[in-house]
Amino acid sequence: MTETTAPRPETGHNARSAGHDRLLIVDFGSQVTQLIARRLREARVYCEIHPFQKVTPAFLRAFAPRAVILSGGPASVLDEGAPRPPEEIFALGVPVLGICYGQQVMMQMLGGRVERGGGTAEFGRAYITPSERPGTLLEGWFADGPEQVWMSHGDHVAAIAPGFEVCATSPGAPFAAVADPARRFFAVQFHPEVHHTPRGAQLYANFVRLAGFAGDWTMGAYREEAIARIRAQVGDARVICGLSGGVDSSVAAILIHEAIGDQLTCVFVDHGLMRQDEAEEVVGMFRDTYNIPLIHAEEADLFLDALQGVSDPEAKRKTIGRLFIEVFEKHAREAGGATFLAQGTLYPDVIESVSFSGGPSVTIKSHHNVGGLPEKMGLKLVEPLRELFKDEVRALGRELGLPERFVGRHPFPGPGLAIRCPGEITREKLAILRRADAIYIDQIRRHGLYDEIWQAFVALLPVRTVGVMGDGRTYDYACALRAVTSVDGMTADYYPFSHEFLGETATRIINEVRGINRVTYDITSKPPGTIEWE
Ligand code: XMP
Repeated sequence: MTETTAPRPETGHNARSAGHDRLLIVDFGSQVTQLIARRLREARVYCEIHPFQKVTPAFLRAFAPRAVILSGGPASVLDEGAPRPPEEIFALGVPVLGICYGQQVMMQMLGGRVERGGGTAEFGRAYITPSERPGTLLEGWFADGPEQVWMSHGDHVAAIAPGFEVCATSPGAPFAAVADPARRFFAVQFHPEVHHTPRGAQLYANFVRLAGFAGDWTMGAYREEAIARIRAQVGDARVICGLSGGVDSSVAAILIHEAIGDQLTCVFVDHGLMRQDEAEEVVGMFRDTYNIPLIHAEEADLFLDALQGVSDPEAKRKTIGRLFIEVFEKHAREAGGATFLAQGTLYPDVIESVSFSGGPSVTIKSHHNVGGLPEKMGLKLVEPLRELFKDEVRALGRELGLPERFVGRHPFPGPGLAIRCPGEITREKLAILRRADAIYIDQIRRHGLYDEIWQAFVALLPVRTVGVMGDGRTYDYACALRAVTSVDGMTADYYPFSHEFLGETATRIINEVRGINRVTYDITSKPPGTIEWE
């Protein structure tokens, strides 16, 4: 894994685990440490991530973990001042699992030896085979032969510590997995938390089972915990939350409302770039179903007038972002005295904002959210979803009683239809786009495909083409249908619709939408394309 030492959010601090056993993840800065937490939550185990600097002997005594995981990290144990956990971890009498850097630091501290990379550095897929005694940690592995794992290491373990035995090997890592069963110490060179180690979840399940966790940590418990944390952070201060109509900001708002009631005010800025019926749906749900105080800022004219004549994608994004902040600020002042701003930031947003190289990353698109606000307005942030992944946020939404139709919604970008209307935006084009998009989504729902697709939408192209309808010539807009599958929006594949589906949808759009006479299907993956057209 590409790894970084950039500051990362800790999870769970100040949290009360409400009588649950706790697992401690000591973070050495791997880019994928949060995935370990995620795998553990899937195994219904309560865990907290803490940076290694903070894990002192006193901290350990107070935390009283039932098990410890040492994460990967970018350092080399051979460097001076390399990060280490306190020796006391190995005297707690609880199971310890070391991953990648965690394995190396464990071997070095317990009497083994680590050497610099040389010829045995491995990056990417590798296959491991079991030794004669693969042991409890790898139970359920190797039923169909060697197992794929994800390796990412320069240094390697050259000699294992006394008491350890080899459980599995790969061509480049003779100590791919090792264990000291008597002390319940385990260490793997690969990353079991990533998707590319297909049986990784099983490994974590084995680890928590042998540590004696009951596996009773649920989204319901997470919700209670998050509510307690919000209350502790906010006290009796006022909070404002920008609602976009998307799942993330909605779940954040509902959770915060549960925590602090009407200390929360939501602001929904309708920039005139919403989809068909979207504004009504969002406002209706918040005001009527949840009874959450909501300011509906109807500012279509402001945005659309400012966007007149603007066709450059970045200029559009910047104009929308700037106006959004202006409108939001105006209403926030009216809402009176808020000192906190709530945001639906997810963990992938946090990862994306950290550059892989350690230097500034290239701006592909200026993403618009309300991130520019706190500094300007002097607001503190409340980000209760900061440690979750999208599907976990959806699960939390269900837990909070959000209707399925809402929880399962495809993501919708802050700049809205502006970036699905390449070239200059006009009210006429937006009206055409809205109708086509509604038909396309209706088709997808009718065919039962909505939940298989990460995101689907129509882009209205800035070209007119010649057609023939009835006996007449037409000269109307062309549009492109877009539908992608994705895990996190970072990479994506186009969805393989059947020809029948595409044909039927094209016919409906051309027949039902005046202004479009040609429909195309976008079959670009990401990369090299992006999901949105601008
Ligand atoms: P791209 O087009 O970069 O999009 O492949 C990846 C995901 O991000 C969404 N997106 C945005 N979301 N503000 C947002 O809140 C934005 O400015 C923005 N731009 C793109 C996009 O819809 C997709 O899900």
